[in-house]
Amino acid sequence: MAEEPERLIQRRKGDHVEIVANEDLSQDYVYWDDIKLVHNPLPEVDLEEVDTSVTIFGRRLKAPLIISAMTGGYGKAEEINRNLASVAEDFGIGMGVGSQRAALENPEVARTYSVIKEFEIPLRIGNLGVPQLIKQGLTAPLGIEEGKAAMEMVDAHMLAVHLNYLQEIVQPEGDTKSKGGLKALEKFASALPVIAKETGAGVPRETALKLKKARVRGIDVGGLGGTSFSAVEYYRAKSAGDSSRANIGRTFWDWGIPTPVAVVVANVGLPVIATGGLRSGLDVARAITIGASSAGMAGRLLPAALEGKDALTRELNTIIDELKAAMFLVGAKDLKELAASKAILTGRSKDWLDQLSE
Ligand SMILES: Cc1cc2nc3c(=O)[nH]c(=O)nc-3n(C[C@H](O)[C@H](O)[C@H](O)COP(=O)(O)O)c2cc1C
Repeated sequence: MAEEPERLIQRRKGDHVEIVANEDLSQDYVYWDDIKLVHNPLPEVDLEEVDTSVTIFGRRLKAPLIISAMTGGYGKAEEINRNLASVAEDFGIGMGVGSQRAALENPEVARTYSVIKEFEIPLRIGNLGVPQLIKQGLTAPLGIEEGKAAMEMVDAHMLAVHLNYLQEIVQPEGDTKSKGGLKALEKFASALPVIAKETGAGVPRETALKLKKARVRGIDVGGLGGTSFSAVEYYRAKSAGDSSRANIGRTFWDWGIPTPVAVVVANVGLPVIATGGLRSGLDVARAITIGASSAGMAGRLLPAALEGKDALTRELNTIIDELKAAMFLVGAKDLKELAASKAILTGRSKDWLDQLSE
């Protein structure tokens, strides 16, 4: 007998977490290493006075970091979200939850998301997908009321609407209707504080301009270089013995606009969140230097989130220390000065930018 859709969604969420934590999803090229910051031998700032705080979407964060949407909607997700929320509170950084569609369909799993309300997180972000705002087969699209309900579930300051058609095309049960997506997003953004969020394939300038016109409040560029959902689906298809899907997943493993490139081209006057392949506080500093308002991290934090709060605390301490070290070494006492400092663009990222601007 075919698996019920609800169980299928729950299994998929569990698979995603396990695959990202345990399999090799690496890309053939590290785009963040194309961005070089310029050393300042006389920084004229004391390390202890380096200030990493930032205001984004009217919310004050102690560091320009957002734990990106990862999970919710199945058993283990509650613990993962609790661990993440607890460090988001301690470090004064932002946090998003995974797609809340599961909880809108089945309120029994709402707790796996709403657990984050127990913590004083300065920026909480809800999450729905643009494919769910459009009619897919017999499934009715989600409306503004559902968007509000998703936000209330986690007491969200912002609602991320994710754009994930790379994932939808490679996963067997994918939602591949996309006509009307921009219009639906516009409707949502006129009623709710929406961040448009790619999930690993990046945002080009043309789309960023359309999103701005649609009145989204920010763009999370979610570019190539980190967690690739094509790679994730490759592993899922392989273990299900579906060689045809596995082939598609492998073929599109490196698909997308590299994150640093997307940060530059999608900067159309809205806050840009740089997500996709950030490994360290140095990468966070690089993102700010090329124009991002803050950085997002998912895959980098997931293994520690599964291990527990202490492991996550260690990781975040390292990331914040690296960010401060980078700021110190370029002589930036705060993020404004870091943003104004020079970045040298090299390698494939430079090739991309040169050709995109031709
Ligand atoms: C296990 C896992 C589940 C994810 N689920 C969602 C999701 O439900 N909604 C969403 O917008 N993004 C989701 N993402 C994408 C991340 O928010 C992020 O955009 C992407 O992983 C790129 O960042 P990274 O390279 O730091 O992992 C997920 C990522 C991971 C690792």
